[in-house]
Amino acid sequence: MASCSSISSVDLQAQVLSCVDRGISSTSNRGHSCQLFLGKMYRFGPGNPSSGVSFLSSFQGASLGNARHRHRKHQCKSKVLKLSSQKASLKDNKSEPEFEQQRTESALDINSSIDRRQLLISSFTAAGLPLISNQSMASPIQPPDLTQCQKADVPGGSSPKCCLPSDPVKATDFQIDASLPMRVRMASHLLDAAYITKYNRAYELMRALPDDDPRSFSQQASVHCAFCQSAYLQKNSNEKLQIHFSWLFYPWHRWYLYFHERILAKMLNDDTFALPFWNWDNQAIFSPLPNVIPAVFIEKPALVDNTRAPSHQPPTLVDLTYSGKPGGLDPEQQRAENNNLMHQELVSGAKTPSLFFGQAYRAGDANAPGPGSVERAPHTAVHLWTGGDMGNFGTAGRDPIFYSHHANVDRLWNVWKSLGGRRKDITDPDWLNAEFVFYDENATLIKVKVGDAVSTEKLRYTYQNVPNPWITHISSPLSISIAGTKPVSSNGVASPAAAEATSLLEEIEEFGEEVEGKFKQLAGSAFQSKVKRPVKDLFRTLKKQITDEELEEVLVIQGVEVPSDKISKFDVFINLPDANDKTSINIPEFAGTFVNVPHLGMAPGMNRKATLRIGIGDKLEQLGIKDVSSIVVTLVPKGQGKDVPIVIKGIKIEYE
Ligand code: C2O
Repeated sequence: MASCSSISSVDLQAQVLSCVDRGISSTSNRGHSCQLFLGKMYRFGPGNPSSGVSFLSSFQGASLGNARHRHRKHQCKSKVLKLSSQKASLKDNKSEPEFEQQRTESALDINSSIDRRQLLISSFTAAGLPLISNQSMASPIQPPDLTQCQKADVPGGSSPKCCLPSDPVKATDFQIDASLPMRVRMASHLLDAAYITKYNRAYELMRALPDDDPRSFSQQASVHCAFCQSAYLQKNSNEKLQIHFSWLFYPWHRWYLYFHERILAKMLNDDTFALPFWNWDNQAIFSPLPNVIPAVFIEKPALVDNTRAPSHQPPTLVDLTYSGKPGGLDPEQQRAENNNLMHQELVSGAKTPSLFFGQAYRAGDANAPGPGSVERAPHTAVHLWTGGDMGNFGTAGRDPIFYSHHANVDRLWNVWKSLGGRRKDITDPDWLNAEFVFYDENATLIKVKVGDAVSTEKLRYTYQNVPNPWITHISSPLSISIAGTKPVSSNGVASPAAAEATSLLEEIEEFGEEVEGKFKQLAGSAFQSKVKRPVKDLFRTLKKQITDEELEEVLVIQGVEVPSDKISKFDVFINLPDANDKTSINIPEFAGTFVNVPHLGMAPGMNRKATLRIGIGDKLEQLGIKDVSSIVVTLVPKGQGKDVPIVIKGIKIEYE
């Protein structure tokens, strides 16, 4: 594993700025990542063998003096990061007043994901000083070589076989057919009889194709399996290719549905055919209910999957935070919690591209750096709640409801962008130029780019207009929260948001940010930690293009590790020290959730690692604690996986 064990002072700044310039800051703990600590004492040490992270030490030279900063920034912009191989002058840098001040404030941590190909690190110099020997630019993920299918992560290589047909033909570049009629994806609970017949017929015909046809239903299901069970390695790399838990989640699924829909249209010989979307986010109370399993998936034979959870048939309402155990809420409570979850994950907790899309994933990166807000929940929760095939990524594509579920996830991408502010597509070329391959309606292998998928109109489809009332949802303050779920604070304070003023806050210890060797295991019980809020000004220096108001405060839960083969989940609350698994999430203190969907047949003992990032700026404002210096963060394991050992390695706050 490459490790970032040696970096010179000048280089350090250049890299930090490079990372920041790329618009994504990641706390990945992969082997190719660097943790660059500015304004602190640095310790040299061997890389952590398990995480590959090295912590820099005895290096005090980082400075972000303005002139220097501008200079470095310019270098970043022109993509000519000059990373000198010369020794850092520790002495010179140390004397700089800015640095002294930063060190005192001890406030600025920049966690930067640096691609191993961008940063090839040499060993130490004779003097023990760090140096960088080489650097090349990161690059976008490339399509895998389909002829090199692995056994996927399934013991014994048995079922499922996720390999795709692999004619070693070169993929054809995608071309949009502008002559296609604009297709309208409609809510699946609102389809008329004629559409339902057509929809069912399309799947009948798809199911009737021979299994080795890449357009057949079983092959379509395999596509999903292949890219979540690591059937392929990244091109020119030994890293497994995974399209979940990173910024590829949204665009990959958009393309997957695009071709799936075009194949269905071809079956019908009807270019106007569009996939209906399962409108589970809509908590309307009139029939037909949008937030139950839509009738078409129960009544129409080609759309049925008999493995779904029997207890989740209509009129049971979807639980958008489900984690394998009934929440026991009455419908009114369920609707309120669903609405607040939607509001949290799309509106208040996802104000920046990286919070929404998930973390950067580039060529050569270890997979699954960290999912975006919607991917965690409601997306994952709906998989688990539907159950059966849907409850496991390896088999999810076998249930026709999958495609309707993802059409709604895809619709939410458009809704999110319409909310304004910084809610825009990622501009990083490594995202825009990432490429995938899919078989199209003519069974031709097509190569597509993420950048060609950012506009659904360009892909010639749009969504029926439905209300999204969760956009303006306001959660219930605790004092009027639902009886029986109101947590009792140990000091009896009704509004724990004011906890900073109480002795309670002082009693809670800081867990702190990730440090080698330190971890906390959550298994069954909640965990509280005090978290210091860093000085915003220092982040502002690095994010000049972002206005003060737009700079988002982000709670970062570092080094989350959960067993891959188990459902697990925890909720995150702010200034509610006594939150427990009965605490309603329809309260302002609820900040977000982490849910893991198990991978089919993954060997026990394999861990999924991720970083959880939650935007909390709005939340602190809502709680009236915008000016406090520390907050209390409570992590509450919940649901079926409540007792699953979940490891976390650090909790901190940064601005992006
Ligand atoms: Cu590819 Cu809903 O997962």
